[in-house]
Amino acid sequence: MRFPVSEPLPDGSARCLVVDADPDVREALTCLLEAQGFSCHSAASGLDALRQLSRERDLPLIISDLRVPDLDGFRFLAEVHDRSPDAAVILMSAAADAPTAVECMRQGASDFLLKPVSLHELEARVTSALEKRALLLRDRFYQQHLESRLQTQANRIKELFLQGVQLLARALEAKDAYTRGHSIRVSHYAVATARRMGVKGPSLDDIRLGGELHDIGKIGTREAVLHKPGSLTEAEVGQIREHVTLGEQMLSPLAHESPTVLRCVRSHHERMDGKGFPDGLAGGKIPIEARIIAVADAFDAMTTLRPYRSPFSPDTALHELRRVSGTQLDAEVVLAFNDIYPDLQALVPATL
Ligand SMILES: [Fe+2]
Repeated sequence: MRFPVSEPLPDGSARCLVVDADPDVREALTCLLEAQGFSCHSAASGLDALRQLSRERDLPLIISDLRVPDLDGFRFLAEVHDRSPDAAVILMSAAADAPTAVECMRQGASDFLLKPVSLHELEARVTSALEKRALLLRDRFYQQHLESRLQTQANRIKELFLQGVQLLARALEAKDAYTRGHSIRVSHYAVATARRMGVKGPSLDDIRLGGELHDIGKIGTREAVLHKPGSLTEAEVGQIREHVTLGEQMLSPLAHESPTVLRCVRSHHERMDGKGFPDGLAGGKIPIEARIIAVADAFDAMTTLRPYRSPFSPDTALHELRRVSGTQLDAEVVLAFNDIYPDLQALVPATL
């Protein structure tokens, strides 16, 4: 019979390390194993074995006497597991000692053999140890492979969802002369302001996306209300206000991976004095990302044409931001926006 080759082996060969102080035992075991197709290394002491393990990485099988020179058997086992955690280790002893055998297994040995070892027993135990190792490796391989595939699919689903929502937002804005390009400009202004405030990494990506999608909920607001030139009734104001919670609901598939984006959408109309909506949050209770988007949103809304008024000049809009700083808008964010204001034109693509 041939021993099974445990998969996956790095080079496809079955390799083994035999450790025993007695040269006759080493030779006998080596002969038996080589006859079964193993390529064998041998060591006369624990330290020699560890040196060989450092050179010969990923040895699938180690057969060692429990009492090897230089190292206590259990210490040797622990050192082997540190260096070659996937190795199957079979320990041998001439003493028929049940507690020792149990302790060997408890410490992670694959099996325990009583000397002298017969050919038949060696075959059976090696086969069993390698099969067990192969199963463990295969399980791990499939688990890792599956996790990586699931993550790739989850990323792709998120990507497709975002593409769909972004396209929808832009298509709706493109139809509307009053808001065309608004979300992209808000996104650019907000990211530049956040950078100025020292925000880095994934938070910047969330602000970018939060800016692009902050008004996505307006998809659910009737056009007659959105474009009404005169003043709005209380009910119409209520309908417009719903865009923040509706937007949050639309983006709920992002709740786990990008919760900040949802907070931007829900809270971009909160005010520092607590008089905003939908939750009436005040000051630091408003997520900082939403406070940043609120400033960018206010500036862009003021500087573009609306059904009910002409656009403000940029300087007038900036003056207005400063006026409501601390009551409606976060003063620190307004200061940061003020700093990037001279470069505002360069931030936005010329096509917008
Ligand atoms: Fe809004």
